[in-house]
Amino acid sequence: MIEILPSLLAADFARLGEQIDQVTAGGARMLHFDVMDGRFVPNISFGLPVLESLRKKTRLQFDAHLMITDADSYAPRFVEAGADLVSVHVEACPHIDRTIRAIQAEGARAGAVLNPATPLSTLEHVLPLVDYVLLMSVNPGYGGQKLIPYVLDKVRALREQRARLGLEFAIEIDGGVTVDNVGMVAEAGADWVVAGTSVLGAADPAQALAAMRQAAENALARRA
Ligand code: DX5
Ligand code: ZN
Repeated sequence: MIEILPSLLAADFARLGEQIDQVTAGGARMLHFDVMDGRFVPNISFGLPVLESLRKKTRLQFDAHLMITDADSYAPRFVEAGADLVSVHVEACPHIDRTIRAIQAEGARAGAVLNPATPLSTLEHVLPLVDYVLLMSVNPGYGGQKLIPYVLDKVRALREQRARLGLEFAIEIDGGVTVDNVGMVAEAGADWVVAGTSVLGAADPAQALAAMRQAAENALARRA
């Protein structure tokens, strides 16, 4: 089953708790946290204390997407703060093998992230290690951008590679996914789909989330 992960980046930060209740009502099981440091990406969002506070408020799985220059040293601290999953960019991690193992040693699932223009081949040696791969479908830093279509080819290629290698990591896609293109994204083979603006930017986040899941499932059912 396809999973839609609401991204908190699109939430009203003055009422985060209430916004989490809304997506929970819409059937969310995982929440995506976009952590930005103003260096790796040209924007600053939130960090450890926000995760820690929200951890006390909900049992949803926390997926921390670290868009920070020093992800190698901060990644394990996000597990301590309450993340169930932590992903780090290959572009920001000179020691990604060690960092993936460090996240897992803390008891969380570890993901490797690729910017749109970073080739899949950079993951070759860590694919057997990771629990998931996050393919960015926009240049990271902001919500509300348009999905870059060639990333769907990367999703398809990664799915083939996973089958060929007999591996089981999940494939996550992030950026520019809407109710109108989520069917295409699902057909390309993403298991987890991050949605910011389309869910928490909508007037009724619970309804928007349900509609996106339905559109994805309809596309998969048509293909079957
Ligand atoms: C972009 C972030 C995304 C963002 C997605 O840097 O990684 O998770 O919140 O937002 P939308 O869905 O609005 O493109
Ligand atoms: Zn993200």
